Amino acid sequence: MVPRKIKIDLDYLSPNNSFIYPLYASTGEKILEARVILTAEKIREVRERYGNILFYTDSGDRAVIPSYRMKIAYNKAKEIMDEILHTEKLTRTAFRDAEKVVEEIVNDLNTTEINAISLLKDLKSHEEYLYNHSVNVGILTAVFAKKRSAFSGDELKYITLGSYLHDIGSTRLDKQLLHKEGKYTVSEIQKMKRHPQLGYEILKNIEKVSPIVLQTVLFHHEKFNNRGYYGLPYENLPDFPKLTSICDIFDALTSNRPYRDAFSPTVALKSIVNTINVHFDYGIVSDFINNVGRLVNNSQNFYSRNDFCELSTQELAIIRDFGLKDIMKPKVTVFCKFLRQGGKLSVSFYKSPVEVDLIHDKDRHMTKIISNETQIATIREKLKERNIM
Ligand SMILES: [Fe+2]
Repeated sequence: MVPRKIKIDLDYLSPNNSFIYPLYASTGEKILEARVILTAEKIREVRERYGNILFYTDSGDRAVIPSYRMKIAYNKAKEIMDEILHTEKLTRTAFRDAEKVVEEIVNDLNTTEINAISLLKDLKSHEEYLYNHSVNVGILTAVFAKKRSAFSGDELKYITLGSYLHDIGSTRLDKQLLHKEGKYTVSEIQKMKRHPQLGYEILKNIEKVSPIVLQTVLFHHEKFNNRGYYGLPYENLPDFPKLTSICDIFDALTSNRPYRDAFSPTVALKSIVNTINVHFDYGIVSDFINNVGRLVNNSQNFYSRNDFCELSTQELAIIRDFGLKDIMKPKVTVFCKFLRQGGKLSVSFYKSPVEVDLIHDKDRHMTKIISNETQIATIREKLKERNIM
């Protein structure tokens, strides 16, 4: 494969992080070796000398789902959705074609150890988002499910098919609603929330459709706090719609939308961690970050040393070093206990902060990475007062 020269914006590289490829200036001059930690000072220096845009060369030796497979999946998604738009139905033949697309993808996964995921992100119009998104969520969920090794071959196929078709009900929604640029009104949100049910209605009469496909389409917006579209108890749901749901969120966050620009994979992964105990349980987020996160993110880590995080024990900690065996388990310094009661937050600082390697701590796990700048500044100030930083 011919190496590809890829542009990267310095804003996507957070301080104290490293990059898996060497970085070059537009002149071809090598600026930084692979995996060297980028300090804030170094980023500033590079920005002053070379500007914000740098380049890296992807040698192409990382196995990905082939681009022709992605293109076929894209064309089929477009064909199917256009067909529903005009006929309000999905034929058995079109469904079978979608199944064939998915069988090929699953076959790729069974024959190649995928170690990078290259998603469809080129959008020429808002309409294309739905097709791209179907392919991306299908691919991400397939890789995630495969890495989890908890499913049979048939289950893997149907989880992928359900994910590929998860938003098929959106084709029955008003186009203007789908591509609206501003905030949705309450009644518009109610209309949008009908898409899982509409998708289910489209698919349920297809002969021999797997319940896995139907449940994935129907339940991909349920939440850990039971406040999903149907408010179903999360613990009673099967795993597959949860896998689809997390992949759905990752792809949506990293895509340009009518109302905002795409977030970088690093920012999206942080946001996903911050859904623990709200949208997802810790186990599924940790699995996603460790198995899929590293395949979609060119940066080695998605958090930095000196980031603040919340722990499951209602404690705050500073991240000291990356979790090498498990990204979700870094070395941290725990410095306070907090209590949230009725919107009020009370904090008690420890006299002596505790050094913890989360990989060896059974009681503590990370539940949030704090990204609110005001909160970060306040915590820093408090720590300075106590000579903890
Ligand atoms: Fe959806």
